[in-house]
Amino acid sequence: MPNATATPPFKTLGIVGTGAMGRGIAQIAAQAGLTVLLHDLREGAVTEAREFVGGIWQRAVDKQRLSEAEAERYRANLKEAATLGELAGCDIVVEAIVEKLEAKQALFQQLEEILDDQAVLATNTSSLSVTAIASSCRLPQRVIGFHFFNPVPLMKIVEVIPGLRTASDVADRVEALGQAMGHFTARTTDTPGFLVNHAGRAFGTEALRILGERVTDHVTIDRILVDQGGFRMGPFALLDLTGLDVSHAVMESIYHQYYEEPRFRPSPLTRQRLTAGLLGRKTGEGFYRYVEGKPQVPDETPPPPVEPRPVWIGAEDDEARRQLIGLVTAAGWPLENAEESHETPTPDALCLLAPLGEDATSCALRLGLPAERCVAVDLLAGLERRRSLMLTPATRAAYRDAAAALFAHDGTPVSLLDDSTGFVLQRVVACIVNVGCEIAQQGVAAPQTVDRAVELGLGYPHGPLAMGDHYGSRRILTILDNMLAATGDPRYRASPWLRRRATLDMPLTAV
Ligand SMILES: NC(=O)c1ccc[n+]([C@@H]2O[C@H](COP(=O)([O-])OP(=O)(O)OC[C@H]3O[C@@H](n4cnc5c(N)ncnc54)[C@H](O)[C@@H]3O)[C@@H](O)[C@H]2O)c1
Repeated sequence: MPNATATPPFKTLGIVGTGAMGRGIAQIAAQAGLTVLLHDLREGAVTEAREFVGGIWQRAVDKQRLSEAEAERYRANLKEAATLGELAGCDIVVEAIVEKLEAKQALFQQLEEILDDQAVLATNTSSLSVTAIASSCRLPQRVIGFHFFNPVPLMKIVEVIPGLRTASDVADRVEALGQAMGHFTARTTDTPGFLVNHAGRAFGTEALRILGERVTDHVTIDRILVDQGGFRMGPFALLDLTGLDVSHAVMESIYHQYYEEPRFRPSPLTRQRLTAGLLGRKTGEGFYRYVEGKPQVPDETPPPPVEPRPVWIGAEDDEARRQLIGLVTAAGWPLENAEESHETPTPDALCLLAPLGEDATSCALRLGLPAERCVAVDLLAGLERRRSLMLTPATRAAYRDAAAALFAHDGTPVSLLDDSTGFVLQRVVACIVNVGCEIAQQGVAAPQTVDRAVELGLGYPHGPLAMGDHYGSRRILTILDNMLAATGDPRYRASPWLRRRATLDMPLTAV
């Protein structure tokens, strides 16, 4: 359990606000060998926090993951400060009180009267500007953001956010403290959402747009992103877990703080659901309905088998053709164009398309294929764990059923989507990569930091830049360019960071 990797550059750490975050920070600070003084406005709150953390250590002792002697040493490191004045000897104080600018400013002003001038004032704010909090302090150079994630001991990342006037040695020492507490430290600029909450804007908002366009339902979107995208949880399950009261506020806050940047545009769907009280797990219903804590998800029924019919492959690049030919051959269906040819499909053939960032309709028309017999397939993540198929509004039921049966021939689940510029996976992945590239472009953090912080803070299978390289940055750029052309929505304009590196064939992590 102890995970300190270096000697902490501070000895006595004060914590003001011992709720969910303050107690977690207290736990890892005590484990790192600091003396921790806890203060809270509410009577009994510190005792609760000490008992909570003490209980965690006791359970670790019971499971023999921690010795009794170590637990005793940790417990001894946690002390109560009944008044703010008792924090006088601290060389750093971390505040984790209510998320209100005036409250945090007032607290830091009070602490400046109590603490030594060398002491550091750190804020765990997740949405306020560190610079704004520091602006009311006598010594803004000692104020810094130190942003942990919930639950603190398990989420092994902390953002270290110097405000515009923070001294660089303060940032270095606080970063060393985060590392001594066993966390990955992500040094970021003082910009809205900092790094992790900024990088997390695309996943939910693009999924909501897809839902809002009625491409498919929330269950299917979640299934695609988990199975094909490798995400631990789909965006709607995540929105339900976090609670729309929190998520909607974060979406709006970051959007407005970036002066209505279209890439972060929230969806009208969440405001209305919030009004209806459909907050998520905490109210028993969000996008899913919960019974005894379990989301109610309809079973997926495999499509019924149909008589094979000839298949025409309208995929344009060699790799896509190869994959589709492999699937059709494995299913034992007759293939009309194993080789590229100038023939046209026979009147009965099912035509398969493999567009990037383009809808099935425009892809069919561009290739001169009959829309009523066309079905598009998303090959961005291959055909391994799920297959997403997309129909034009003209696709006939017989061809839809044929495609579903063909792609399900080996038992792999199939999702059927209405027409969309970029299926589900392409859209969400392209938006995540694009926002990540813009974060790198703006120098919010170093590229490697962007990726690691997102893996740790959001649990994505890859950080956004590595995700772009994984799927191919040129393909991501094509998806975005096609989406922008089709929709005219500046939300999809590619970041210059992405465009330059993709066209130069350089990794997105290249500085
Ligand atoms: N909960 C999260 O997921 C999360 C994640 C990262 C950052 N944060 C930030 O951490 C801070 C705390 O969040 P939380 O979830 O722990 O809140 P919480 O409500 O669980 O705890 C806040 C505690 O602060 C105390 N408090 C409020 N005002 C005070 C004051 N002026 N002086 C002393 N004590 C005071 C309250 O009594 C309470 O015990 C907020 O700024 C929040 O934005 C929260």
